[in-house]
Amino acid sequence: MLAYGRQSIDGSDVEAVVDALSSDWLTTGPQVDAFEADLAGWTGGTPCVVVSNGTAALHVAYAAAEIGRGDEVITSPMTFVATAATAIAQGARVVFADVEPDTANIDPVAVRASLTASTRVVTAVDYAGHPAEYDDLRKITADAGALLIADAAHSLGSSYRGAPVGTLADLTTFSFFPTKNITTGEGGAVAVAEPTRLEAARRFRSHGLVRDPQRQREPDEGGWHQEVHAFGLNYRLPDVLCALGRSQLRRLASFKVKRATLVDRYDELLADVPGLTLPTRRDWVDPIRHLYPVRIHDGRRREVYDRMRAGGIGVQVNYIPVYWHPVFADLGYRRGLCPVAEEFYREELSLPLFVDLTESEQDRVVDLLTTILR
Ligand SMILES: Cc1ncc(COP(=O)(O)O)c(C=O)c1O
Repeated sequence: MLAYGRQSIDGSDVEAVVDALSSDWLTTGPQVDAFEADLAGWTGGTPCVVVSNGTAALHVAYAAAEIGRGDEVITSPMTFVATAATAIAQGARVVFADVEPDTANIDPVAVRASLTASTRVVTAVDYAGHPAEYDDLRKITADAGALLIADAAHSLGSSYRGAPVGTLADLTTFSFFPTKNITTGEGGAVAVAEPTRLEAARRFRSHGLVRDPQRQREPDEGGWHQEVHAFGLNYRLPDVLCALGRSQLRRLASFKVKRATLVDRYDELLADVPGLTLPTRRDWVDPIRHLYPVRIHDGRRREVYDRMRAGGIGVQVNYIPVYWHPVFADLGYRRGLCPVAEEFYREELSLPLFVDLTESEQDRVVDLLTTILR
């Protein structure tokens, strides 16, 4: 089965991991700081905290945003469940705002309509790698006294009006799962400029431990002393994986070119196929495409999914609207809440897109899809 997404690992990645394995540090060593510094080169200099996965990154971001019981987080239903689940884990209530029909990104108009006195955070998701409308979202959150979080699991390497992802929100989270733009197997990061929140993110990643004597309540206890002032968890990313991340980052510029080439080729080869809408790009956005999401018309998405899979093409559906999950139904969320997202979901199909996808594999995808739809 041809996957819809997968990693690209070459000899330089293997070498980086082997070197780290032979070093003194498997975790909490120098590769962690080095990976964070390298990552900041892609986030416009915004400092980064690397963590064990993208879900942990969201949890860390919500913790650093200090949300808790009684607070509301507005987010998109067109995302992986983790964007909402981690806010709920912090005790917040999640409010879903509908998406824009072309990009499937959260609609600023719907966000504004969803604001209440309890809104503390708006979390945008850069669906498929295409940044959300950050100018509007920043204005809305500034007016409301709320924080803006970007779930950039799909969009490391993208930019919006010339500004890189990582500079567009108060906190930005990344995932390094194998299908993502770079991978560390499992991994993630939070980019945050504000120093207090940066420090909170670092502490939450590592049990909340305070090791700096100047910040401790009992600094004279002894050299071994460490304190916990607020609970955290172990969300650390090992050195071995940070070494892989650094190596992947060195390849990210070429990944971007390769993904763009494949997207252009899909756009061209599928342009005249009936019953299909191809993904769009707004003029002011320079995306690194994580997904190639097409829309299948006339109620045929299920049939096309089944026939593509039967033909060995591992298409995917991204995403079931988050509040359709039974856990949200049990909390009282009802279908129909975000009609644009639901309509998008009913038609969406992600075609295989990854760096090492060959032209002949891509031709197989196009040929089968064309045969089904013509
Ligand atoms: C939009 C989005 N947010 C969050 C996550 C969670 O990332 P991870 O799988 O690294 O925990 C994912 C990954 O599937 C995602 O696609």
